[in-house]
Amino acid sequence: MTARQKPSFPKHFLWGAATAAHQVEGNNHNQWTVWELENAKAKAAQAEYHFGDSPAWDRIKAEAKSPQNYVSGRLADHYNNYATDFDYLTKMHMNGYRFGIEWSRIEPTEGAWNIEAITHYKNYLKELKKRDIEPIVTLFHFTLPVWFMEKGGFEKRANVKDFVRFAEKIAAELGTHMRYIITINEPEIYARESYLSQDWPPNESSRWKFLKVVNNLALAHKRAAAVIHATNRKLKVSIAKNSPYVYPGDNAWLSRVSAQTFQYLQDDWVIKKFIKSCDFLGVNYYFTNRVYGYRVHNPDEKLSDLHWDLQPADIEYVVERLYRKYKLPILITENGLADAEDEQRQWWIKETILGMQRAIAGGVDMIGYMHWSLMDNFEWAHGKWPRFGLVAIDYKTGKRTLRPSAAWFGRVIKKLRDAA
Ligand code: BGC
Repeated sequence: MTARQKPSFPKHFLWGAATAAHQVEGNNHNQWTVWELENAKAKAAQAEYHFGDSPAWDRIKAEAKSPQNYVSGRLADHYNNYATDFDYLTKMHMNGYRFGIEWSRIEPTEGAWNIEAITHYKNYLKELKKRDIEPIVTLFHFTLPVWFMEKGGFEKRANVKDFVRFAEKIAAELGTHMRYIITINEPEIYARESYLSQDWPPNESSRWKFLKVVNNLALAHKRAAAVIHATNRKLKVSIAKNSPYVYPGDNAWLSRVSAQTFQYLQDDWVIKKFIKSCDFLGVNYYFTNRVYGYRVHNPDEKLSDLHWDLQPADIEYVVERLYRKYKLPILITENGLADAEDEQRQWWIKETILGMQRAIAGGVDMIGYMHWSLMDNFEWAHGKWPRFGLVAIDYKTGKRTLRPSAAWFGRVIKKLRDAA
C-alpha cells in the first residue's frame, strides 16, 4: 500500500461499513419473514442443485441443506446489541456507517407510528454521533410492512404515498441526526428478483409488473426526495445503485455492441429514472461482466463462496464511468464478498482501495466507501451461510469476532486517515 506517500483520499472521506435492517436486526415482522417461513424447506432442498459443484460445498452443505438457514430469526440480534457492534466500527477507525431503518417497525399497522421504534433509532443515531461516525440511512432495503404488501406493495402507483409518508416521518423525527439518506436500495434488483425471477417475495414472473414496480419506485424516490428536502434542506438524498462494470472480451463488433447494451440496460436505463432527484450517487459494486458475442463469460479465476467472479480493481472503471456521465459525487454504499474462511477479503479490499485511489487521482469526486458488511448477516434467499462480515457472528451464541482481514483494514484506514 502506497498510502503513506501522499494524501490520496480527501480529508473528510468516509471509511465505513454497511448493513441493512432485516439482514442484521433479528426478529422483524415484514413480508420477508412471512415468506421465509413458507419457503425454507424448498430452499433447503434446492441448495445442492445451486451450489453442489462449488468448491465451498463440503464446508457449507450442513448449513445450506438445513431449513433453519433460510429463516432469519434472531440473527446477530443487532437491534439489541448495536452499541457493541458500533465498537467494532471504532476499532477499525471508521467514520461512516450505512444502515437501514425498518419501515415495518416504525409503522407496524397502516397509519400508526410506533413511538418506541422511533426512539430506538434516535438512540441508535446518538450512539453513532458519540463515536463521531457519520450515518448513512436507508429507508427501503428490500423489506416492507406486511400491510403494505397486502395492498399490492409497489405494484400499485396509489401506494407510493405510503412510502412517502414514511420518508417524511423519518426526516421530521430523525433528520437532524443525519445528512445522507438512501431512499431505495437497488430498485431494479428488488423489482427483478421479486417480480421477474421468482426468487424473492412475492415470487412473481411478469415483465409488465417488473416495469411497473421500477417506475413506481422511481416515483417513490422522486416524491420522497422532495418531502425530505422540504423537511430539512441539509439532507442529501440518493438511491444505492447496483452498478456492474461490463466490457467486451474481444474486439468483435457483436461483443462491443452487446457489452454497451448490457451496461445500458443494467445501469443507465435505471439511473436515468432516478438521477434528477439525487444529490449524490450511491453505488454498490460487486460484479464485472466480460462479454463475448452476446454472452457473459467471466474469467472465474477467483470466486467467492457464492461463486461470484471477483474483480475488485474494476471499481475504478465503474466510478469513472458514472462520474463522467452523471457528474455527481459518488459514495460507495456497498462492496464486499462472501468469504467465510477470510482467505480473499484482504486482497479484495486492497485492490478496491487502489482502484479508488486511481479514480480519485483521475478526478472522480468520491465521498466515501462502505464495506459490505459490518457483520455476517441474512443473505436473502441464500439465508445465513454466506459470510460477508468484517465481524464474524456465531449464530448459536451471538459471539462476535473481528476477522483478520478486518483488523488489517482497520490499520489501513488509520494510516489513510492520518495521511489525509
Ligand atoms: C444488497 C445486499 C446484499 C448484498 C450481497 C446487495 O445487492 O443490497 O442486501 O446482501 O448485495 O448480495
